[in-house]
Amino acid sequence: MKDRIDKLLSELESVEIKSKEHLEEFRLKFLAKKGIVTSLFDDFKNIASAERKEVGKNLNELKSKIQDKYNRFKEKLEGGDETSSSETDLTKPAEPIVFGARHPISIVRNQITDIFSRIGFTVKEDREIEDDWHNFSALNLPEDHPARDMQDTFFVAHPRPLPLGGEKQQVLPNGEDLGGAFVLRTHTSSVQIRVMENSQPPIRSIFPGRVYRKENISARAHCFFHQVEGLYVDENVSFADLKQTLLYFAQEMFGEKTKIRMRPSYFPFTEPSAEVDVTCFICGSKGCPVCKQSGWVEILGCGMVHPKVLENCKIDSKKYTGFAFGMGIERIAMLKYQINDIRLFYENDVRFLNQFKSA
Ligand code: DAH
Repeated sequence: MKDRIDKLLSELESVEIKSKEHLEEFRLKFLAKKGIVTSLFDDFKNIASAERKEVGKNLNELKSKIQDKYNRFKEKLEGGDETSSSETDLTKPAEPIVFGARHPISIVRNQITDIFSRIGFTVKEDREIEDDWHNFSALNLPEDHPARDMQDTFFVAHPRPLPLGGEKQQVLPNGEDLGGAFVLRTHTSSVQIRVMENSQPPIRSIFPGRVYRKENISARAHCFFHQVEGLYVDENVSFADLKQTLLYFAQEMFGEKTKIRMRPSYFPFTEPSAEVDVTCFICGSKGCPVCKQSGWVEILGCGMVHPKVLENCKIDSKKYTGFAFGMGIERIAMLKYQINDIRLFYENDVRFLNQFKSA
């Protein structure tokens, strides 16, 4: 077999391929199903095991040389223009370069992070699979707290007992034991806890990222979406600071004439809490389908960080105060671009995506 391989190697050197017909002959002889390479590999099965290693190596070398030669000549003979295979026609129009478009979610996320970066907020990201402590308990949502039902949660089964604190056994109402309570985070507020646990004030950051909720998918809801969370903790941070920061944001994002209004609301991790509306930037507050004729559209939730949340993160709530806010990126993108079906964001239909080329 070794001799056969050597012979073929030298034959390979001398074979001349000058036309497409030669190339096809070459392919049939060496590479086709009934060609030499296949038959050599068939014979290889009968080689004594002592010789297998070396013969196998030679055989593979031969095969790749044959394939290389074939590829080289194929490119040479078929690659170029039919009429002038060896010359490049410099007058030919260039291949058009097709640029992609940024995804609308990325566009809006970048706009939001840019706006806050300009007033000193840094950008941080953290994990999407969270433990119960960071997604719920540390945010003043103890077990059995009814506000846990505000967000339907995906639990992640964890087969091993968990060594770290703050991660409890999770048993579903039907008795199923999920092991450690890991969840797909239901909001980016979990990153507040991660950051406050690991640093002392002043803290001034925003946290963009994907969140998950067990929702039925429809034009208005999806089982995952994106949020941007904001957190500012320092001495003497007040509600007025929160209000001014959000007014600045709204005017940068939706236009300088935009006004905001705050409605009292409830979130377990902030006290007081508010929901923020902006004047409808589609109709200039005259009333339209987007604002449901009210002149206002809701864009985010916010409030002063609850002292318990600060204490849970070992931050002295007598010395420091802070504000936090959270907004949905899809919601803002849908308002801004008047998109009426959230599912469009995740289907990657280029006819949809190409509309954002100039955005
Ligand atoms: N985490 C809330 C949600 O997903 C949004 C939110 C509300 C975040 C108020 C905050 C806040 O930081 O202060 O619905």
